[in-house]
Amino acid sequence: MNYSIIGFGEVGQALARAFARKGIQVTVASRRPPDALAPQAQAIGETVIPKALQEALQVDVIILAVPFREHPAVAKALAHWQGKTVIDATNAYGVPVEELGGMPSSSVIAKAFSGAKFVKGFNHLPAGLLAADPNVEGGRRVVFLASDDDSAVPPVAALAEHLGFASVWLGKLAEGGALVQARGRSWAPLIFQNLVKPD
Ligand SMILES: NC(=O)c1ccc[n+]([C@@H]2O[C@H](COP(=O)([O-])OP(=O)(O)OC[C@H]3O[C@@H](n4cnc5c(N)ncnc54)[C@H](OP(=O)(O)O)[C@@H]3O)[C@@H](O)[C@H]2O)c1
Repeated sequence: MNYSIIGFGEVGQALARAFARKGIQVTVASRRPPDALAPQAQAIGETVIPKALQEALQVDVIILAVPFREHPAVAKALAHWQGKTVIDATNAYGVPVEELGGMPSSSVIAKAFSGAKFVKGFNHLPAGLLAADPNVEGGRRVVFLASDDDSAVPPVAALAEHLGFASVWLGKLAEGGALVQARGRSWAPLIFQNLVKPD
């Protein structure tokens, strides 16, 4: 498996730190050229490799860490998403529910990435906590996963565990996923829950 993080702001850099901590290579990209991302990537770790967006999308697993309204721009960067896994780390706080057609925000994004194996995850922790070592208090910090495709979840759960997190599979996007979403002016109950699973 190879990995990219699209979006290299607070969440993208936090996730890059998690990869670097474990020495796992990860490509990072944004709208800016790789040279512009290089100093920050190098500061995080030598396994964090900036590339142009198109090149960064030539991997198996893509973590989406862009503002919600930017997801269509990323989705249209590839002709199709078959064979890819997309992990949606975005939130849609401030995006009116009407703009989402009343759907969970991740269902809107899943539609744009049609053909991909799509999993919502890594979106519920503030970037500072996501960046920190998940081995805390004698346990592992929890990340929640949700997907409409049951077969998509185990590899993402394995990645989360490999990064040092405890993964909790919540079910479908509109069910468990709805417990970890932000949209309109509301935060669902599991957003920001800093849970640690004892080892
Ligand atoms: N901040 C948090 O604590 C937190 C926690 C959980 C989830 N989230 C969610 O995670 C997402 C990212 O949040 P953030 O706080 O990391 O935002 P941010 O700091 O503003 O970073 C956004 C990143 O996305 C890149 N970007 C924007 N449009 C792009 C496009 N079309 N193609 C490629 N890259 C693009 C930006 O870089 P360029 O300008 O160079 O393109 C930037 O690196 C949001 O959906 C947010 O709701 C945030």
